[in-house]
Amino acid sequence: MSGRKERFGSRTAVIMAMAGSAIGLGNIWRFPYMVGEHGGAAFIVMYLLATLLLSLPVFITEVTIGRRSRKGAFSAMSELHPGHRIWEFVGLLAVIVPLLINSYYCVIGGWSLDFLLRSCAASFVRMSPSEVTSVFSQMSSSRWEPVVMHLSFMGISTFIVAHGVKAGIEKFSKISIPALFFLIIVMIFYSVTLPGASEGLKYLVKPDFSQVNGETMAYALGQSFYSLSLGMGAIITYGSYVHKEEDIVVSGAGTAVFDLTFAILAGFAIMPAVFAAGIEPGAGPGLIFQSVPYIFSSMGEEVPVISAAVSFIFFLAIVVAAMTSCISLIEVGVTFLGEKFNLSRKKSCCLLFVLCGGLGIVCSLQPSVFDSLDWFCSNVMLLVLAFCFVVFAGFVMKKEDVREEITNAGAKPLNVRLFNVIYFQIKWIAPIAIAVILVTNFIL
Ligand code: PHE
Repeated sequence: MSGRKERFGSRTAVIMAMAGSAIGLGNIWRFPYMVGEHGGAAFIVMYLLATLLLSLPVFITEVTIGRRSRKGAFSAMSELHPGHRIWEFVGLLAVIVPLLINSYYCVIGGWSLDFLLRSCAASFVRMSPSEVTSVFSQMSSSRWEPVVMHLSFMGISTFIVAHGVKAGIEKFSKISIPALFFLIIVMIFYSVTLPGASEGLKYLVKPDFSQVNGETMAYALGQSFYSLSLGMGAIITYGSYVHKEEDIVVSGAGTAVFDLTFAILAGFAIMPAVFAAGIEPGAGPGLIFQSVPYIFSSMGEEVPVISAAVSFIFFLAIVVAAMTSCISLIEVGVTFLGEKFNLSRKKSCCLLFVLCGGLGIVCSLQPSVFDSLDWFCSNVMLLVLAFCFVVFAGFVMKKEDVREEITNAGAKPLNVRLFNVIYFQIKWIAPIAIAVILVTNFIL
């Protein structure tokens, strides 16, 4: 397998590729509806805390494990600590979970592709909110349309992975991320000027902490892990491509800042439109597909062409952002099949396409399967796996080895000074907090 010898080209390439994995439907599709379902601004506060206190150490842990072992998620831990079945099992879960996520992730990718094609036909121009809502419900409940779109989306992503890490992933992330950033800012501008939008703004900035309970914390943590691609081996796998000279803490913090900024901006683009269109903020997974076209529809009041063009570019950017994330999910499986069964990149891609594609069809046709899979993966399995990773770094790896990775063998003075704090977070704070949240919410 040639993948092991490949390395990311530069510091920006590392942050961009990791941000490419992190920024995706999690920020644009999932974050706004999670905010809507779990209490608005109060959820955002929990999410920020979860990212700073827990996700960042988990991120550093995953890159450390990946870079130290130079292996993908499946073999990384057994490489560093051979002969222990339990870590092989954890490694296996770290391959299965991303593939499960990939199956339903591509369904949303397919919805985005569908809306991209609709944008080509300028079909959102001058639609009323109820017309916009019905476009989504008709599309998602039709039999063949979401399935065809889902398979097309997955097909393109798999094709890119089949062509290698550098060529595919780096090129993709470098274009899509700045484009999306720019567009979201344009959309915020439109969204906040819609009549009734101010309620949405209030919802985003005025926290009502009476809404916060243990469950909100679990959802916020799950969302933070999901959004940063943590707890599923994707970052371990990427970590294995990271250069020895790279600063793990800077890459982690850089990626987290990018990712947070995107999620919050997406919230500000979408929530005002949700309120302006009179949609329930807790409307669930369809939220952005029901609200965003309304922004385009009102943009089109004066100059329809502009609205059509902006909606086309927006959905294109979403499709690309979703693809960079999807690529990193597939990459986990490809690395596993290569390392374990010596399967070529292309053959692995074909196999994964069939497996994930098949499960995705079930998710696409059965909303209850979709919901359960998302709940189980994001709120339970990501937490379980992140817990295992920090326990591995804190209790199984030698402290000196962890120090060597995080400080680049002493070459990063700031990290040398921060090491004890980061290590304490990895060894004690993260495992205890994750375990408490997990056990109190989902296991007891
Ligand atoms: N972080 C991605 C997102 O926000 C989803 C993802 C999860 C991608 C895990 C890769 C691995 O959309």
